[in-house]
Amino acid sequence: MSSTVAVVGAGLMGSGIAQVAAVAGHDVVLRDVSDDAVARGLSAISGSLARFAAKDKISRADAAAALARITGTTDLGDIAQADVVVEAVFESLEVKTSVFAEIDAVAREGAVLATNTSAIPITRIAAATKRPESVVGTHFFSPVPMMRLCEVVRGYRTSQETLDRTAEFIRGLGKTVVIVTRDVAGFVANRMFLALVVEAVTLLETGVASAEDIDTACRDGFGHAMGPLQTTDLAGVDVTLSAIRNIHDDTQDPKFAPPPLLQRMVAAGDLGRKSGRGFYTY
Ligand SMILES: NC(=O)c1ccc[n+]([C@@H]2O[C@H](COP(=O)([O-])OP(=O)(O)OC[C@H]3O[C@@H](n4cnc5c(N)ncnc54)[C@H](O)[C@@H]3O)[C@@H](O)[C@H]2O)c1
Repeated sequence: MSSTVAVVGAGLMGSGIAQVAAVAGHDVVLRDVSDDAVARGLSAISGSLARFAAKDKISRADAAAALARITGTTDLGDIAQADVVVEAVFESLEVKTSVFAEIDAVAREGAVLATNTSAIPITRIAAATKRPESVVGTHFFSPVPMMRLCEVVRGYRTSQETLDRTAEFIRGLGKTVVIVTRDVAGFVANRMFLALVVEAVTLLETGVASAEDIDTACRDGFGHAMGPLQTTDLAGVDVTLSAIRNIHDDTQDPKFAPPPLLQRMVAAGDLGRKSGRGFYTY
């Protein structure tokens, strides 16, 4: 069933979420704080749809129809009719809580209010609203139009109805849903993956195997598309270190103690692909 979806934040994730919602037939309002940011988001969507059309993964007519279903805006009032609001603004507790207080003031009663946070507890974001039962986490993976997984995360006060409606909405976007019943740091996917990264870095720094061989072991032994060190270079060594620190702070589990090598790489500016050097040179 098509509904009205509002996406707040037109960056990398917000534009991807708006795109998949529009392709699934929903009317989408895409809101950011400046006209420039809205224009960048719409242009990213149009470019992505064109690439899908060039590969015959969507017809040109369907791509054009999806684009036409998205309305860009800087006016938060335009989200008032949305059945589902997905927030994808900067990963900052301060920014997200102030955005949720604003969303709470304008969104219609009964709307699902979802946050695409990677690491901030859903419960803390929900506490910025007067309706924490309607607030839920939707953790999409980047690039959203390509990656099938979305973790649906229950905050302490999230109602079962909100969780069920969110899962149904996400499945309707063609995504696979994994339900996370407590908003633990790292949720499920990153909790597993970052444990693997910590072990891979430890094996490297203790001289057990080379970076190439560690990645090869995961690719050819387990069928992973990329090794953990290659993936860390792609995601950013600094971003990965901060995610590991976040889980360690939350759990105090020594398994997630940040490996010294990762810390030195960040201090030296070896941040992965984006800086030209990480575990590999680019
Ligand atoms: N990038 C990833 O791989 C990834 C993966 C999963 C989850 N996330 C999470 O998704 C969220 C967004 O990440 P991103 O990579 O898209 O960030 P981004 O920096 O690309 O985009 C953030 C957007 O939010 C906008 N914004 C800031 N304040 C706003 C407000 N008050 N109202 C509306 N828009 C506002 C900014 O102008 C910007 O366009 C973060 O919480 C991030 O942790 C990111």
